[in-house]
Amino acid sequence: MRAIDEITITDAALEQMSSTPNPRLKQVMASLVKHLHAFAREVDLTPEEWLEGIRFLTAVGQKCTEHRQEFILLSDTLGLSSLVNSLHDKRATEAATKSSLLGPFYRQDAPMMKLGDSIISKTPGTEVVFYGRVVNSAGKGIPNALVQIWEPDETGHYDLQKLDPSEMDLRGCFHADAEGRYYFRGLCPLGYMIPMDGPVGDMIRAQRRHGYRPAHIHFVIGAPGYRELVTALYVAGDEHIDSDTVFGVNESLVVPLNKKDPASPLPNLPSIRFDFRLAAAKDQMSGRVGADPSQITSKAGKGA
Ligand code: BEZ
Ligand code: FE
Repeated sequence: MRAIDEITITDAALEQMSSTPNPRLKQVMASLVKHLHAFAREVDLTPEEWLEGIRFLTAVGQKCTEHRQEFILLSDTLGLSSLVNSLHDKRATEAATKSSLLGPFYRQDAPMMKLGDSIISKTPGTEVVFYGRVVNSAGKGIPNALVQIWEPDETGHYDLQKLDPSEMDLRGCFHADAEGRYYFRGLCPLGYMIPMDGPVGDMIRAQRRHGYRPAHIHFVIGAPGYRELVTALYVAGDEHIDSDTVFGVNESLVVPLNKKDPASPLPNLPSIRFDFRLAAAKDQMSGRVGADPSQITSKAGKGA
């Protein structure tokens, strides 16, 4: 019998898991165990610290509901979501707009709207027109591309964070026109603090981090034959543009807010203009690092 000590335990665990028939599950779990064990050895993890970690993860799970995803928030604040996005972008075979975080506030079934409509239905504020094109890697417009949008209100809250989260506001879906052009009206994006009333907020405070995201608006853009793009646009000049708590900002996604814009389809409004580039689909793999929270709770425990 092999003596189990702080070194041999790693090979013992790997050996026992080596019977896993699914090769990808086998690879991922073996690597996870190796790195977890190396982490525990590196920090000389104590029983009390281990228990604190278990308590923390338990609280993260208990905070999750069909309207709240604390695990995604944890992944975001640790930089893991942004890392998975970067790995996903690297797999594209054509140049495309960079991904950004889906975050915990995406929801499917946002209302379908007509080009030029406003996504503001309940909370008034400073209106801006967002416009541009959805193009392929050759710069050609993608007709009828589906553009999904969501943003917080002027107090920094998404509809999912409201008293009645079943009511939708500041979300919409649009089809681009035959040349791939889109335009819609929304609120001028503002920065906000990520949800701080749970265990992730406790972690952020313990680390003396500010907890803010710079002003942004979210997009999911898709069309048949193209990789779905999950991204966001960030407003230039925001004080937290270089210190986003969830590491979502990429320089190429930072856009100016134009006070006057004669080229805009609604020139009397301030505007934000951006052309989104989609890469051809290589596989059917989803590029969403996240999901509608209600989908996660409804599928939890139904795997393998
Ligand atoms: C968001 O932008 O909606 C978001 C992303 C990650 C964490 C919290 C919020
Ligand atoms: Fe956001």
